[in-house]
Amino acid sequence: MAFLAVLLLILSNIALNSTKAKSQTNQPNIIHLGSSLSPNANTTSWLSPSGLFAFGFYRQDYGFAVGIFMLNQPETTITWTANRDDEPLSSNATLELTLDGELLLRTDQKQGKAKLIAQTSTQATSASMLDSGNFVLYDNVSRVIWQSFDSPTDTILGGQNLTAGKNLVSSKSVSDHSSGRFLLGMQEDGNLVLYPVNSSYITEDCYWASGFNGYSSDLCLNGTGFLYLQGDTDLGRSSNRRILANGSSEDEGNETHAIIHRATLDADGIFRLYSHHVWSNKSSRVLIKWSVLENKCDVKGFCGFNSFCALEGKEAICHCFPGFDFIDPDSKSLGCYQNFDEDNCRENEVSGLIMRYNISSPLENLWWVNYPYSVLPLKEELCSKSCLDDCNCWAVSYTDVNNCRKYKLPLRYGKIIENSTDLAFFKVILGNSDTPTHVPPGRVNPEILVRSKNAPILILALSLGSVAFLCFVFAVSSFVVYKNRAHRYKKLWDSNVGLAEDFALQSFSYNELERATDGFKEELGRGCFGAVYKGTLFGSNKAVAVKRLEKGVEEGIREFRAEMTTIGRTHHRNLVQLIGHFAPDLERKSKIHTRCSQGSFLST
Ligand SMILES: *[C@@H]1O[C@H](CO)[C@@H](O)[C@H](O)[C@H]1NC(C)=O
Ligand SMILES: *[C@@H]1O[C@H](CO)[C@@H](O)[C@H](O)[C@H]1NC(C)=O
Ligand SMILES: *[C@@H]1O[C@H](CO)[C@@H](O)[C@H](O)[C@H]1NC(C)=O
Ligand SMILES: *[C@@H]1O[C@H](CO)[C@@H](O)[C@H](O)[C@H]1NC(C)=O
Ligand SMILES: *[C@@H]1O[C@H](CO)[C@@H](O)[C@H](O)[C@H]1NC(C)=O
Ligand SMILES: *[C@@H]1O[C@H](CO)[C@@H](O)[C@H](O)[C@H]1NC(C)=O
Ligand SMILES: *[C@@H]1O[C@H](CO)[C@@H](O)[C@H](O)[C@H]1NC(C)=O
Ligand SMILES: *[C@@H]1O[C@H](CO)[C@@H](O)[C@H](O)[C@H]1NC(C)=O
Ligand SMILES: *[C@@H]1O[C@H](CO)[C@@H](O)[C@H](O)[C@H]1NC(C)=O
Ligand SMILES: *[C@@H]1O[C@H](CO)[C@@H](O)[C@H](O)[C@H]1NC(C)=O
Ligand SMILES: *[C@@H]1O[C@H](CO)[C@@H](O)[C@H](O)[C@H]1NC(C)=O
Repeated sequence: MAFLAVLLLILSNIALNSTKAKSQTNQPNIIHLGSSLSPNANTTSWLSPSGLFAFGFYRQDYGFAVGIFMLNQPETTITWTANRDDEPLSSNATLELTLDGELLLRTDQKQGKAKLIAQTSTQATSASMLDSGNFVLYDNVSRVIWQSFDSPTDTILGGQNLTAGKNLVSSKSVSDHSSGRFLLGMQEDGNLVLYPVNSSYITEDCYWASGFNGYSSDLCLNGTGFLYLQGDTDLGRSSNRRILANGSSEDEGNETHAIIHRATLDADGIFRLYSHHVWSNKSSRVLIKWSVLENKCDVKGFCGFNSFCALEGKEAICHCFPGFDFIDPDSKSLGCYQNFDEDNCRENEVSGLIMRYNISSPLENLWWVNYPYSVLPLKEELCSKSCLDDCNCWAVSYTDVNNCRKYKLPLRYGKIIENSTDLAFFKVILGNSDTPTHVPPGRVNPEILVRSKNAPILILALSLGSVAFLCFVFAVSSFVVYKNRAHRYKKLWDSNVGLAEDFALQSFSYNELERATDGFKEELGRGCFGAVYKGTLFGSNKAVAVKRLEKGVEEGIREFRAEMTTIGRTHHRNLVQLIGHFAPDLERKSKIHTRCSQGSFLST
C-alpha cells in the first residue's frame, strides 16, 4: 500500500513537470502512514490533485521551511508555514507521517531531533493535501482531526475562515515568512482590525477597522471570492453577513482555468484580496481584487520610531526627523535614533551653561500620533524657544492658533499629510541645525514656509468690490495685550470674535466695521498708506484697531499685501494680533478664510 502511494506521488510529480493538460479530479491524493519528505529526497512535497497546491519543503533564506505553497505561479506564493518562527531547516531535515500516526519533522537525521507539526488528540491514519489549499489529517474513520485551515499564518484561502478571536500576522518580507510587523485581528466583538504587532492595541495604534461590531463573527472568504464577516448564525440572524469585498471574476470562457482566491495580510501591513487564474497550459495570472488601504503611509508602524513616511510615486519611503539617523540604513523601516548624545540638560540649566541645542528649520505637513505632554498658547517663535528651554522637549508642533504642543521621544507613526498646516520643529545639536537632509525633495522648503494666504483676499477684493470699497482692506487688530497669556488665549477662544475651529480669520462687512469704529471717528494714528481707527467689536467689549487702506488702488493693495505678509512673518509679544479682515462679498454669503496671523499695524 505505502509503496503504491509513493509511486502515485512520483507519478503526479512527473505529471506536473509535463506540459500536458491535467484533468482535474476531486479524488484526494491520500498520504499514508510511513510517507516522508525531505529536501534531499526525490519527493520534497505532497501535491493536491489539481497540482495547484503542495505541502512540503520550500526554500527560505539559506535553508528550508515546511509549508503550503501554490505551484506554477508568477511569484512564489506561500499560503501557510509550519512553526514559522523557527530557524531555517537544513537539507537533511525530513518530514514524516509516522507509523504511529504523527506528523513529525526531524530537523537533523543524525541526532534525531523531532518536532510535531500537528498536535492531535488521536492518531492519524492518513493525510491529504486538498485542492482548496487545506492540508488535513484523518483518523481511522476518515474524520478530519487536524487541518492547516484552523491555524492560518498570514493568509486565508477560498473556503477558509478566520474565526473570532484569531489573528493573521504578516510575514517579515516577501521571501521571509516568519512573523512580521502587522496583525489582523478578528475580535470577539465582531470588529476586524489592523494593528502593528507589539503595539498597545489601543485606538491610536489601530490603522484600519471594519467598524462592524456588536456581535461575534468570523471572517470568511468563500469559494467565489466574497470576503465577508459572518455573524453568529445560532442567533437565527441569517442576514448578519457584512460583505467586505467581492473578489469574484467575470467568467473568462469556461472551465479551462481554475481560480483561487486568497486574502493575505502582506508584509507591508495591507490586507489584500487576490485572485489567481491558472490555465490548463500552466500559464497563470494574479490580480489584486481589493485592499483595505491604498496608501502605505497610512499603515501605522510602517516607519519606526522617530521617522516619518512619505509617498514617492507609489512607494512609501521612511525618512528620519531632523536630528535623527537610521538605526539601520539598509532597513529604514526600523526607525531612527538621535544622532547626538544628550548632555545633562538639567545640570546645565542649574549651572547656567550655554545651551548646546538649536531648533531645526520648520517642517510642514507632518503628522505623528498626538500625545503632547504639554500644550501652550504660544506664538510660533516662543513655541520653539520654549522647547529649547525645556529639558523634556524634543519636538514641538505649532498650529496657527497659537497652539504649541510639546513632545517627548519617541515620536510614533510619523507621516506626511498633504493638507496639514501644522509646523514641526525639532531640537537639534547646535551647529547641526541646517536644513534637514532626510526630507523628501520638493516637499519641505523652509524658504517658502511663510504662508501668506492673504493674497486671495486682495485679488478677490479687486475683482468683486466696488471702486470705493476696493480701496479698503481691513485688518482688525486686538488692542489689548493681556498680562496673562493663558488668560488671553482662553478669552480669544471664548469671545465671539470667533476664531473658529477652522482657524480662519473672521470676515467683516464694511457696515460692521463702520459700526465698530462709530463711522471711523477716532483716529489712533496714521501709517504710510492708511489711518488706524479705534473701535469696539459689536457683541463684545473687545477694543480693536481698524486700519483703512486709503491710497490708490493698485499701489495701495500691493503695499498692503506686503505689509500683511510681513505681519504674517513677524511674531512678537509687543505686537497685537490680526483677527479679521474686510470681506467685500460678505453680503453675498461667500466667506473668505485665511489663516489667523499674528501681527499689528501698531507698534507700542
Ligand atoms: C531518486 O530517484 C532516482 C532515479 O530517479 C533513484 O536512483 C534514487 O534512488 C531515488 N532516491 C531516493 C532517495 O528515493
Ligand atoms: C547532512 O548529513 C550528512 C551526513 O549525515 C552530513 O555530512 C551533512 O553535513 C549534513 N548536511 C547538512 C546541511 O547538515
Ligand atoms: C479507531 O481508533 C479508535 C482508537 O483511536 C478505536 O477505538 C476504534 O475502534 C477505531 N475504529 C476503527 C473503525 O478502526
Ligand atoms: C466558514 O464559515 C462559513 C459561513 O459561516 C461556513 O458555512 C463554513 O462551513 C465555514 N468553513 C469552515 C472551513 O469552517
Ligand atoms: C514583539 O515582541 C516579541 C517579544 O518581545 C518579540 O520577540 C518580537 O520580535 C516582537 N515583534 C516585533 C515585530 O517587534
Ligand atoms: C459566496 O458569497 C456570495 C455572497 O454572499 C454568494 O453570492 C455566493 O454564492 C457564495 N459562494 C459560495 C461558493 O458559497
Ligand atoms: C461581484 O463581482 C462580479 C464581477 O465583477 C459581478 O459580476 C457580480 O455581480 C458582483 N456580485 C455582487 C453581489 O456584487
Ligand atoms: C469554452 O467556451 C467556448 C465559448 O466561450 C465554447 O465554445 C467551448 O465549448 C467551451 N469549452 C468547454 C470545455 O466548456
Ligand atoms: C495559456 O492559455 C491562455 C488562455 O487560453 C493564453 O492566454 C496563454 O497565452 C497561454 N499560455 C501559454 C504559455 O501557452
Ligand atoms: C539655529 O538654527 C537656525 C535655523 O533653524 C539658524 O538660522 C541659526 O543660525 C541657528 N543658530 C545657531 C546658533 O546655530
Ligand atoms: C485632510 O484631508 C483628509 C481627507 O483627505 C480629511 O479627512 C482631513 O480632515 C483633512 N485635514 C485637514 C486639517 O484639513
